[in-house]
Amino acid sequence: MAWTTHRAFDPVRFDIPPEFTGDASREDMRAWLRRLGDRHLDGGPGFFVLTGLRHLDEQGMRAFALAASASLGELLPQDSSGTLLREVRDRGVKLGEGATGRYSDSRQGGNLHTDSPHRPSAVPDYFALVCVHQAAIGGDLILVRLADVIARLRERPDVLETLRRPVHFDTRDDTPGVPRTVSRPVLEERHGKEHIHYLREYIELGHRQPGIPSLTSEQILAFDALDALIESREQQQVDRLSAGEMVFIDNRWTLHGRVAFEDRAGDSRRLMLRTWIARASS
Ligand SMILES: [Fe+2]
Repeated sequence: MAWTTHRAFDPVRFDIPPEFTGDASREDMRAWLRRLGDRHLDGGPGFFVLTGLRHLDEQGMRAFALAASASLGELLPQDSSGTLLREVRDRGVKLGEGATGRYSDSRQGGNLHTDSPHRPSAVPDYFALVCVHQAAIGGDLILVRLADVIARLRERPDVLETLRRPVHFDTRDDTPGVPRTVSRPVLEERHGKEHIHYLREYIELGHRQPGIPSLTSEQILAFDALDALIESREQQQVDRLSAGEMVFIDNRWTLHGRVAFEDRAGDSRRLMLRTWIARASS
């Protein structure tokens, strides 16, 4: 077993009180989770981790993930068939491959991003991952806070201005009737606070679609400047979820990615269960 040496999430790791364990539908459990959300998503670091689900089987973890996520808002479908709990695992594809290849189906690392910037309807405010099995090697989670990025970009107003203009994200959906791109800015001010929507490969793919203008040199330079910042170790918080842990991440002002992973023959393969959540009052 490979262990990370980084434990950046420890200050926001919380054991589920034993009386709640395994049943996230209880009203007292829901209230406890909402307090954690108020403190650590909307107001604090932008993420928190629950521990103590290891005793549940996969079915139990599925039920817990759905109920716990629903206590923070409305679950959003993650594909055209309405999937509310999606398996994130290596499906043998590469990011951006073909018409529909997605990061969540690959074992690639890097590519720090927000979830679903390419969704034609509302982008999830939060998302959650339950770790059912961790990979034999790698798979560490990397988080970058938008506030730290913006603070550094204050000295680059040209970059900030470019990032506030709309770009086309490839929707990664070739279903007839679904638009091939969706237009939104990387940095968007909503309710007086700046949000981020970013997955560079989907923007590059979007701007290669017929009828969409190529990216300008200013846009490419702005993405290069943003990437240089978010890829620098000093901006990153790195930790590794263990089986039975669940992380909640504020998708509005946190970028995330992972270290590339490898499953080992004979071991359970890496499996995360993901929900997308629209916060109750958004
Ligand atoms: Fe993601």
